[in-house]
Amino acid sequence: MKQQIKVLSAIGHFSRYRPRHHPCCLKTFSIHSLSRNIVHSVPIRLSSTKQARAIQLTNNTCLNFSNCNFNFCVFEYQQRNMSHNRKVSSDVNAFQDQLNRATKIVALTGAGISAESGIPTFRGEGGFWRNYKSEELATPEAFAKDPGLVWQFYEYRRQLVSSKEPNLAHKSLSILEQNFIRDSPHRQVIVVTQNVDELHRRAGAKRVLELHGSLFKTRCTQCKAVKTNFTIPIVPVLENIKLDEPDRHIDPKDLPRCEKCTGLLRPHVVWFGEQLDPFVLKQAEGLMSVTDFLLVVGTSSVVYPAASLIPQAATRGVTVSEFNIEQTAASEYAKYFFKGPCAQTLPKALQIGETMISHWG
Ligand SMILES: NC(=O)c1ccc[n+]([C@@H]2O[C@H](COP(=O)([O-])OP(=O)(O)OC[C@H]3O[C@@H](n4cnc5c(N)ncnc54)[C@H](O)[C@@H]3O)[C@@H](O)[C@H]2O)c1
Ligand SMILES: [Zn+2]
Repeated sequence: MKQQIKVLSAIGHFSRYRPRHHPCCLKTFSIHSLSRNIVHSVPIRLSSTKQARAIQLTNNTCLNFSNCNFNFCVFEYQQRNMSHNRKVSSDVNAFQDQLNRATKIVALTGAGISAESGIPTFRGEGGFWRNYKSEELATPEAFAKDPGLVWQFYEYRRQLVSSKEPNLAHKSLSILEQNFIRDSPHRQVIVVTQNVDELHRRAGAKRVLELHGSLFKTRCTQCKAVKTNFTIPIVPVLENIKLDEPDRHIDPKDLPRCEKCTGLLRPHVVWFGEQLDPFVLKQAEGLMSVTDFLLVVGTSSVVYPAASLIPQAATRGVTVSEFNIEQTAASEYAKYFFKGPCAQTLPKALQIGETMISHWG
């Protein structure tokens, strides 16, 4: 199969090269590990298409182009024999028909599913904390520099999330899980979430894989012990963190400490620049290799490697259904696209009525 390769944006040094192809849509792309081995990375917006001047694609190839501004490399593969007329549907009946024939449903969710609970996404409105972009605080470097500031950011988020409730989208997925399994026990519904807010569990979901950890778990920086902790504030010095107050310096000895070894605790979340827990990633990839119906809900699908799960399933011909207020990087894989706030579109598509939801609680 003949391929034409274009560099869309960004240049980097590759340590691995693993293309992913999608047989039935116009294009696919992937972001690869770089020599610094970053797999969880801040995305770049694809803007102009620049033809590569020269390209060598072999293992451990170092690619050098002019205008090298980014740390990431993105390739677009155009396969000449692909259908250019792929139709995207929002037909609820056709969606239901396929859903009912599925046996292993995976719902990959992102910050958008919690937006209607009042929890801001990173990239939408309210995606700022004080004057910082979240990507500036959710990093190991920021924690090493000022753990007190990072804990203020996380305690603020813990307090915010604790004051919010799961919405109809979270509840619909939990009801789907219950109904789907009740009707036929060999069937499964699994939520794979990028969210760290625990709202799926609070909505009653039984099988949840948290790709990026949880705001309500801590990890010791010394002995690595992971503990669940719902105490608000997590330590007295972090009481009532306000969004509009100036940064205050907090002595690290007053920050959360390990009960076992007194080491400094950190939030058990995957930060920008860190790798996902390999065991968790393996589980997620395993699910992508067995699912026969993938729901993609409220994610911009630009944070890797979570976003690479979608092409992994799509490449196998799995039906991808997307729920978002706008088109995303995943839309090219979607057979069904339901546009709008997912607390409205998801219950409608899953045919989960108000009575069911009110009985659910
Ligand atoms: N609630 C949370 O736990 C939370 C909140 C913010 C960020 N994060 C983290 O930030 C990273 C961001 O990636 P991401 O893709 O999850 O989020 P993102 O902020 O990159 O994208 C959010 C997506 O949700 C869509 N969206 C917004 N409101 C929506 C609605 N009402 N219905 C449907 N879609 C809606 C947006 O169009 C966008 O595509 C993740 O790693 C996640 O862990 C988590
Ligand atoms: Zn410890």
